Amino acid sequence: MPERRLLVVDDPAAAAADVVVADLRAAIRQRGAAGLVLAGGGTPLALYHALVERPDLDWGCIHVFWGDERLVPPDDPGSNYRAAWAALLSRIDLPAANIHRMRGELPPDEAAADYAARLRDWARANDPGAPHPWPRFDVVLLGLGEDGHTASLFPGSPPAPPQPVVAVTADYQGRPAGRITLTPRVFNDARHVIFLVAGAGKAEAVRETFHAADPMRLPAQRIHPDYGRVTWLVDHAAAGE
Ligand code: 6PG
Repeated sequence: MPERRLLVVDDPAAAAADVVVADLRAAIRQRGAAGLVLAGGGTPLALYHALVERPDLDWGCIHVFWGDERLVPPDDPGSNYRAAWAALLSRIDLPAANIHRMRGELPPDEAAADYAARLRDWARANDPGAPHPWPRFDVVLLGLGEDGHTASLFPGSPPAPPQPVVAVTADYQGRPAGRITLTPRVFNDARHVIFLVAGAGKAEAVRETFHAADPMRLPAQRIHPDYGRVTWLVDHAAAGE
């Protein structure tokens, strides 16, 4: 059984920083490189700021990917890449070749195919034993929407698409609706998935995700790594229900 933990903490970002640093350092020690998948939305930004302050991370050995992206150019205010660049990537010593962004400026199907090819090529080059055409990521960061979505896996979407990356359309809080997202097959291959959830607006979604059993309506339930761990870092407001 995969290990699943829910930790109610004062500050999910601060709690996550220690866990993420420990995991990335262990991956580098064991395999010489680490794969980190960033989340979109506002919640992880405090974690990104915290990671800037960690001198104990060798960014030269860390490769950064995204779990989902909005289909906008990389300099658009709605771009997940742009948000991560401003909060983290522009402020650390990370080689450009280690940044694997989703190309939100492409048409939807092309953007999905482009990222699937990038995942396949990176896995082949860095992890020749990988059983699938995508890497086994060391750390995957995910958020939770008030409607139960995670990454861009939205309620009612096909729960188990065979492709590693798909294009979707979803309206949520006025954010860009065209998106591409990794699918559960890729997330569920990860060594450690960390959900960061904050704010009372998420309380109902947290409660339902843990107590109902309906992955069609509650996409975060589709995430259950085959061999890895899942940690939910939830603040008191989001854990209120
Ligand atoms: C995105 C996401 C999305 C996000 C949640 C939570 O691109 O919008 O990756 O899944 O993580 O909507 O967003 P907040 O952290 O802003 O609440």
